[in-house]
Amino acid sequence: MKFGVVGWGLRKSVAKLVHQPENGHTLAALADTSEEARGRFLEEYPDATAVDKIQKLLDMDLDAIFILTPDWLHEEHAILCLEAGVPVFLEKPMAITVEGCDRILAAMQKTGTRLYAGHNMRHFPVVRKMKEFIDRGMIGNVKALWCRHFISYGGDAYFRDWHADQSRSNTLLLQKGAHDIDVMHWLCGGYSTQVTGMGGLTVYGDIEDRQKTEGEVTVEFRRVWPPSTLDKLNPTVDVEDLNMIMMKLDNGVMASYQQCHYTPDAWRNYMVIGDEGRIENFGDSAGESVIRLWDNARFGQSETGDLEYRVPSVEGTGHGGADELMIEEFLGWMAGSDDICTSPIAARMSVAAGIAGAESVRGGSAAVAVAGLDPNLAEGLPSGLSTL
Ligand SMILES: NC(=O)c1ccc[n+]([C@@H]2O[C@H](COP(=O)([O-])OP(=O)(O)OC[C@H]3O[C@@H](n4cnc5c(N)ncnc54)[C@H](O)[C@@H]3O)[C@@H](O)[C@H]2O)c1
Repeated sequence: MKFGVVGWGLRKSVAKLVHQPENGHTLAALADTSEEARGRFLEEYPDATAVDKIQKLLDMDLDAIFILTPDWLHEEHAILCLEAGVPVFLEKPMAITVEGCDRILAAMQKTGTRLYAGHNMRHFPVVRKMKEFIDRGMIGNVKALWCRHFISYGGDAYFRDWHADQSRSNTLLLQKGAHDIDVMHWLCGGYSTQVTGMGGLTVYGDIEDRQKTEGEVTVEFRRVWPPSTLDKLNPTVDVEDLNMIMMKLDNGVMASYQQCHYTPDAWRNYMVIGDEGRIENFGDSAGESVIRLWDNARFGQSETGDLEYRVPSVEGTGHGGADELMIEEFLGWMAGSDDICTSPIAARMSVAAGIAGAESVRGGSAAVAVAGLDPNLAEGLPSGLSTL
């Protein structure tokens, strides 16, 4: 198969995985507005073509196009491909508005063109093992999930470029949270219907050292400490660096998601409570993390739990091997398989819940209803909540 890519930035890493000439798959073309990015791409893939506009990819007879552009462009780029009849691999978040997600779903329905939602966290070995424990009934019926998300690199990654600007990313509850909210929906077996949140711009908003125009610095993942000494922030910084939201799901499960962009460490901690036990992960990288299960009543604490599962390493380096596993699934989907764990519906619902959270955070913590999905837009698509 011949693949095209739109956007050769940080996330080029995922497109590079699909270039498998030994299996007959190649990266054949790139569209990127940056001449420098096109140059870097051609150095690596001299037989490929590089153009400045996505429109120029659409009649190149590509089997699919990877959309790896910044969040606010996903809607426009996905719809252009779908309307040209070219299948799409779309990075998260699906779009930065619910209406944008629904327009993508409408384009899929109208054209019958397929879209793969690139939610790589569904392939994290830790997440999959927790899902397996839940599916096997090891904690009974899920009643609650609490997720804490520590992001030590948040300042560098999200406050020195377009991510910091609400008009480009809307909220970091999408940019980062879309991953976790999606995982939470999957583990809990339901979608959010109502969200209440609290949050704010609590550290980075006070930093006065800003770029004069956007894009003066190349974003790198450094270890600036303390975070209040970060320099050269994006000219506009109006997204929250601390978000705490609580979600009510359509199956009665209650969940909370806490996200902080200036912690000393970086990992996600999920704790799922059922009516017959609870599970929790410590560390989230395969080979370096453990899942513990508590399913015996006791007074007081047991640090190790009643069962301890060490998550083995997997091959691959992209997000702890998850990117490689996702691309394997994507290639199977390209070959016609519908046996996939992600869904455009799930991608849309994580955006809808994140946006409701941001509205609540910005609206004095009032409860906000999550925009429901028109069943016509969901027709024929997997629910996104299946068991493993
Ligand atoms: N799933 C994950 O783990 C993960 C990790 C990182 C980023 N992402 C997502 O991947 C996407 C890309 O993020 P990134 O960090 O690589 O962004 P980036 O800013 O590093 O790169 C974006 C690229 O798109 C190009 N571009 C901008 N406008 C364009 C246009 N109109 N047409 C063509 N090219 C254009 C830029 O020149 C740049 O090369 C984002 O949506 C982000 O949320 C996902």
